Amino acid sequence: MEIIIQPNAETASLIAARVIARVVREKPSAVLGLATGSTPLAMYRELARLHREDGLDFSGVATFNLDEYVGLPPEHPASYHAFMQEHFFRHVNVRPENIHIPDGLAPDIPAFCRSYEEAIRAAGGIDLQVLGIGSDGHIGFNEPSSSLASRTRIKTLTAQTRSDNAANFGSAEKVPIHVITMGVGTIMDARQVLILAFGEKKAEAVAAAVEGPITAMSPASILQMHPVAKCITDEGAAAKLTRTDYYRWVYDRKPGWQKV
Ligand code: F6R
Repeated sequence: MEIIIQPNAETASLIAARVIARVVREKPSAVLGLATGSTPLAMYRELARLHREDGLDFSGVATFNLDEYVGLPPEHPASYHAFMQEHFFRHVNVRPENIHIPDGLAPDIPAFCRSYEEAIRAAGGIDLQVLGIGSDGHIGFNEPSSSLASRTRIKTLTAQTRSDNAANFGSAEKVPIHVITMGVGTIMDARQVLILAFGEKKAEAVAAAVEGPITAMSPASILQMHPVAKCITDEGAAAKLTRTDYYRWVYDRKPGWQKV
């Protein structure tokens, strides 16, 4: 895994946006896997700016979001459908028919999950998957103990995740218990993965994912097995890593052609 430690979330987000912009410029029909939450907000702002000011064109791009709460209609302000419209889609030119987000109201959830996997396959697979990390080490909503080979399915949130996400709902009790999420195996099939982590609250999860053993108790640790994974953090989220000198040394000495 490539570890990129930045002074703050802003500079880290600019790098993430540049990685995505490069993928989209090299392959205008790129398939992007997208995340919600507070972490990618500045990255989406920068992508919107690149669209507005530099003409970054999303008209051929297809997107697949990681997850959605079961039981929330798309118009619910805390749904990930609403989040994506508000923070990304309404600012760029992704075609509505190319946008895919799990359907929290699907009447037959297993059938929906199979069709989501099939749609990703039919689109040619995900070229670049953006991830945040939960304070408990989850990616997507694959909570600790998730199968590292899992596919899109229903999952039950941990008490910690419901409390972490309480702000959007008013209280932890109001956060839905169930979600639909891409599986760890679905995420691992992406050709490139970008995991972002900001703030000291994520430091333990990042250290476990990057330097700990590969274990279902830290689902993000499976990214150690991914051939093209970048972990971009701010100083706070990097605080519990032990080899930061080496990671900074590597990043500062990248050959020009590898720089973003
Ligand atoms: C969101 C997702 C989650 C979040 C994670 C971090 O689509 O899949 O894994 O990335 O819970 O959330 P924030 O960024 O709000 O700290």
